[in-house]
Amino acid sequence: MKTMDTEQSLKVKGVADVSHASAFRKYRDLYYGDMPIGRAIVCELIMFFFSGMGGALGLFFRRKLYPLMFRRIGRKVVFGRNVVIRHPHRINLGDYTIIDDNCVIDAKGTNNFGIEIGERVYIGRNTILYTKNGNLRIGKDVSISSNCQFVSSNDMTIGPYTVIGAYSYLLSGGGYDYGPNAKRFSEQNGFITRGPLVIGENCWIGAGAIILDAASVGEHCVIAAGAVVNKPVPAHSIAGGIPARVIKSLEEDLPAHKVSS
Ligand SMILES: CC(C)(COP(=O)(O)OP(=O)(O)OC[C@H]1O[C@@H](n2cnc3c(N)ncnc32)[C@H](O)[C@@H]1OP(=O)(O)O)[C@@H](O)C(=O)NCCC(=O)NCCS
Repeated sequence: MKTMDTEQSLKVKGVADVSHASAFRKYRDLYYGDMPIGRAIVCELIMFFFSGMGGALGLFFRRKLYPLMFRRIGRKVVFGRNVVIRHPHRINLGDYTIIDDNCVIDAKGTNNFGIEIGERVYIGRNTILYTKNGNLRIGKDVSISSNCQFVSSNDMTIGPYTVIGAYSYLLSGGGYDYGPNAKRFSEQNGFITRGPLVIGENCWIGAGAIILDAASVGEHCVIAAGAVVNKPVPAHSIAGGIPARVIKSLEEDLPAHKVSS
């Protein structure tokens, strides 16, 4: 079996080919990309001293100092311990957002907008939000439970007021060519996509749901626990199973559930 060398593994992670670069250059590309060196050093120092600091003191220092790293950040954003932030100059965070312990927020890319997180968003511990030259926009008042992973090499939008259960996996892009003349999978960069992923306003995504590239979900939907959604789900429905099928329509409940934007 062919083992993956450094060059291949860097390509798989969506990093420019820097296989002959120094360890410093590789690290800089992975964490900061095209961020000016002076600003990257400031980020390094802040993360080094405060990312692992426990207790209220850690929360205090992170709230005061982390805003220096981001493109735009609102008021009173809370960062838990050991949150990994990569490419913060491509990340916007809204007021009162909470990012719990051990999350990874990585807006990797060269010509992407990056990550935008709205007001009062909660991101549960161990959750990974990751772009590979794509975009990820999370609307206001979204709640994401622990251990979720969202990966975008295209465009992913999560509508406001949506709740996402633990261990959910959302994907925009991330496809590989499996045709007869395709390169070996580990030699591809996984950027193939069928289209953007949009999760509508006011949805409830059950625990462990997987929502695949371009399989959008309309507003006010429930996705059952453990579903694999591989094609669009119409608004106001409950869908579940593998692959997900509409189980019920919520049209008749519409006035009671309707949320104004
Ligand atoms: C979908 C859900 C909301 C149930 O909705 P409900 O309106 O009470 O539906 P019912 O339990 O009456 O089930 C309706 C049908 O859907 C099926 N169904 C329910 N949950 C399902 C699931 N997770 N996967 C596949 N099918 C499911 C039922 O078997 C039933 O099928 P049947 O009519 O052939 O018997 C619930 O099962 C669910 O998955 N909740 C998510 C809980 C969760 O993940 N919480 C995390 C905290 S954010």
